[in-house]
Order: sequence, then structure tokens, then C-alpha cells
Amino acid sequence: MKEILARLEGKRQAARMGGGEQRIAVQHGKGKLTARERLDVLLDPGSFEEYDMFMEHRCVDFGMAEQKISGDGVVIGSGTINGRLVYVFSQDFTVFGGSLSETHAEKICKIMDMAMTAGAPVIGLNDSGGARIQEGVAALAGYANVFQKNIMASGVIPQISVIMGPCAGGAVYSPAITDFIFMVKDSSYMFVTGPDVVKTVTNETVTQEELGGAITHTVKSGVADVAFENDVEALIQVRRLVDFLPLNNREKSPDFPTFDHADREEMSLDTLVPDNPNKPYDMHELIHKVIDEGDFYEIQPTHAKNIITGFGRIEGQTVGFVANQPMVLAGCLDINASRKAARFVRFCDCFNIPIVTFVDVPGFLPGTRQEYDGIIKQGAKLLFAFGEATVPKITIITRKAYGGAYDVMASKHLRGDLNFAWPRAEIAVMGAKGAVEIIFRADIGDEAKIEARTQEYSAKFANPFIAAGRGYIDDVIMPHASRRRIARGLRMLKNKDLGNPWKKHDNMPL
Ligand code: HXC
Repeated sequence: MKEILARLEGKRQAARMGGGEQRIAVQHGKGKLTARERLDVLLDPGSFEEYDMFMEHRCVDFGMAEQKISGDGVVIGSGTINGRLVYVFSQDFTVFGGSLSETHAEKICKIMDMAMTAGAPVIGLNDSGGARIQEGVAALAGYANVFQKNIMASGVIPQISVIMGPCAGGAVYSPAITDFIFMVKDSSYMFVTGPDVVKTVTNETVTQEELGGAITHTVKSGVADVAFENDVEALIQVRRLVDFLPLNNREKSPDFPTFDHADREEMSLDTLVPDNPNKPYDMHELIHKVIDEGDFYEIQPTHAKNIITGFGRIEGQTVGFVANQPMVLAGCLDINASRKAARFVRFCDCFNIPIVTFVDVPGFLPGTRQEYDGIIKQGAKLLFAFGEATVPKITIITRKAYGGAYDVMASKHLRGDLNFAWPRAEIAVMGAKGAVEIIFRADIGDEAKIEARTQEYSAKFANPFIAAGRGYIDDVIMPHASRRRIARGLRMLKNKDLGNPWKKHDNMPL
């Protein structure tokens, strides 16, 4: 028996060493943790249960029969984050560059099946040279099998990807399907084709970092959600995100006890909106002052900054916040903002997270660039997402709600449950000056007349009372009472039961 145990321990030890000391040293030299060290940071101490530690690849070509490493380049298992169950896979770059073989893919698929059965999130730590070149189509099949699992899990369990090294070619599409992508600055990159192929095909010279580094994807493309300084920071932030999320689509998010009283009034909010309607203010301030203890988890903080998306809590319950940001592009909606917010709203709706929307929007961004790139269909995504969402929806118009953007931003007409406005809200087809220049075109040139008409239009529409008079606004509230009114509303809507008509699935404008 002793001998058997010693053999078992020896095999375990060999598997734990992955590609060996030298490759581990290279990994550390790049400022990266190993696959197992990453799991140590991600999961509660002692909670990790590993599976398939002894699985090996079945490839015999190119001398692979002699090169077998226990575990085959991916560590899989379950564990807990602050006591709540999660499933994980962590690719081991020290084993064949973390490349994905048939067996490696089978392990990822297995963990996804287990997560679906148990109803718990899957977190994938990606660090891989892509398809195992020696295996050819078997590796490609493996990728497709993983994609199919990702698709089936979408909207059922939260899926989180952390890119901690290379992620290239078709390998990018598994993370792309998942709900959140985090990247590590300087050590991770994602692209469909690398700089060499780009040079050959388009003659563009671009570095790996410029083409698909963490900054590129969290600022320009919006493919990734947040960029972190290093492995440890990224993993700690995944833990923090998981704390906001329910385990699956049948559960509510966890209850976080708070000392922050639901009736807390923030008098400073009464002066948040400047007197000058064209002067910006930071919408973050409103979010921070309304949520429990100012604890906000922003999603895509550096992409499409004209809209803010993220999670906070009210009375200990997770809420998804969507808010126009007057500090950037005056808070108008453009293609990137619409796409960013639409995906966030759909995530919240999948996972029973109520949505609170703060509106200060002068309209959609005009221009040929926007029209040619399809603002019509891209903007419709956000409209569609808000309209189909059946979770509790509370909206506060802080200042402007003009034109189509008024409709889009979780208006009453899109089944908003509680729609409030602050006293200085302006709900109109457009700003007063623009409106007058259209309906009184004949008066253009006569400054006095235009000014008088503008005053008249402003007096009529630059307030919330016409909308409130029609019941489109349920109440005009004082800014300092926002937290209390939201908290009460959410309490009231706790058992909201709203469905959509039966359909196989919708055909949202993609
Ligand atoms: C097998 C691989 C591998 C791969 C790396 N290795 N990628 N083995 N299949 N795809 C091995 C290397 O042989 C090496 O083995 C070890 O991993 C580390 O690789 P290095 O090149 O030394 O590391 P580094 O310099 O950091 O470069 C990392 C890299 C590079 C940029 C990822 O290895 C690379 O370009 N690999 C190929 C990438 C690629 O073309 N993959 C296929 C993409 S297409 P030793 O034994 O020396 O340690 C794809 C299709 C998916 O993925 C389609 C799905 C639909």
C-alpha cells in the first residue's frame, strides 16, 4: 500500500510540475504566474478540487508519443470564491505552450458540463499558443466543441475569461462568447491573425501590443472589459466580480449585508447638475452616492466612456447601472456606447439583476461615420435590450432626455417599472434652440424673435411636467432622495413577474 501511495504522490508531483522547472522559470521571468499559482490566488485557500490530473494526449505524430505530460496543459476543477462554488480551467503555458489538443479540449468541455449540471459559473484562465499544431484537425474539432459548450452555457451560468498570455486565431472565439473578458497589461494579447500575417496581407506594420494588447481591446475595440496591471490584480478582481453575480440564471445574486441605510439622503446631489445646461458633470458621482458604501464595479470603464455600465448594490442586492456620462461626448449615444450598454443590459436580464438607468442624453451622435457604420442597427440593439428585459427597471432622468435617445434609455414606453425625473429634467424632441430653428425657420436672422421663441419652447418643454402629466414619468423626485426612492422601488419590485411571448429566440438587430 505504501508503495502505491508513493507512486500516486510521485505522479501527482510530476503533474504539478507541468512543463518542468526551466519552463516555469521562463514563465516567471515574463512576470506571469503558473496555471496552478493563478488558481491559488483565484480560489479560497484549500477549496480547489482538481480533476483529470492524469489525462494525457493521444497524439503519436511528430514524436509526440514520447512527449506526454500529465494533465496535458490545462488544470481543471472546482473551488470556491468567498464560499461560493465556481468551476475553473487554467491553461498551462509550460506544457506545449498551453496549446489546445483534443484531450485538453475534452477537459475544458468536462468542466463546463459539470458547471452546467451544478449551476455555477465557469472561469477560464487563458494562456495558450492556440491549436496544438501536431494534432491538426483534432485540435480544431476540440475548439469547436468548446465553442458549442460556451454557446449552450450562455445565459445559464456566468462565464468569465481572463486572458493572461497569448490568445490567437480561433482561440479568441471562446472568450468572445463568454460574458466578461479581463486582460493583463503587457503580457496578454488577442487577435485573429498576428502582426506577421497582417504585414503580408495588408502591408500594415503593427506590434503585437498595438494589434491586440490589453489597452487596444479595453479602449479601442471593446472586445475586453477591463485591463489589469498583473496576474494577481486580475484574479483578485475576478473574485470581486463573482461576489456581485448569481451562480446561475435561476438564482438571485448573493445578499451582501451592509451598514449603509437605504434612507440615506445625499444633499450634495441637489447641486450635482450645473445651472448651465451645457456644462458637464461626472455621472460617476451620482452612482457612487446612491449605491451601498460607494462600492462600484465598472464594466468597460475605458471603452465608450460616454456611457457608464457596472454593478453596485442597493440594500445588499446587486443592481446593474447604466448611465449616460455628460463628461464625454456630452453623453450622447453612439455605436460603441449602444453596443456596450446593450450587452450589459442583456447580461443583467439573463441573470436576474435589476437595472437602474440614469439618463442625461442629448441624442444620438450625428455624422457620416456613425451612419455608415450602422448606428441605426447598433442603436437599435440598446433599444431592443431595454425593451425585452423583464427584470425590475428603474430610470431617473437627471437632465436631458432628448429625441429617440429618450425612448431608448429605459423609458416608460419600454416597460420601465418606475420612471423618475429630477426637477430640472428636460424631456423633449430636441434642445430648444435646435427645435426653434426648425419650426420657425422663417424667423432665422431675427435674433430677438428666435430668442423669444427659444424661451417659449424652453419654458414649455425644458421641464419634466409634460411627461409627468401624461404618466410617462411616475414622479418628479428630489436628487437627494434618489437612493431612498430606488431602494423602495426595488423592494416593491422584488417579486416582479413579467414574461415575453413564446418564441424560439428573438431576432435582435445584430
Ligand atoms: C504546439 C506549441 C504551440 C502550438 C507553442 N508551442 N505554440 N506547441 N502547438 N500551437 C510550444 C513551442 O513549441 C514551445 O515548446 C513552447 O510551446 C513555448 O513556445 P515558444 O514559442 O517558445 O514561446 P514564446 O516565444 O513565448 O511564443 C509564444 C507563441 C508562439 C507566440 C504563442 O509559440 C507561437 O507563435 N505559437 C504558434 C501559434 C499558432 O500559430 N497557433 C495556431 C493558431 S491557429 P518547447 O518545447 O520549446 O517549450 C489556431 C486555430 C484555432 O489556434 C482554430 C479554432 C477555430
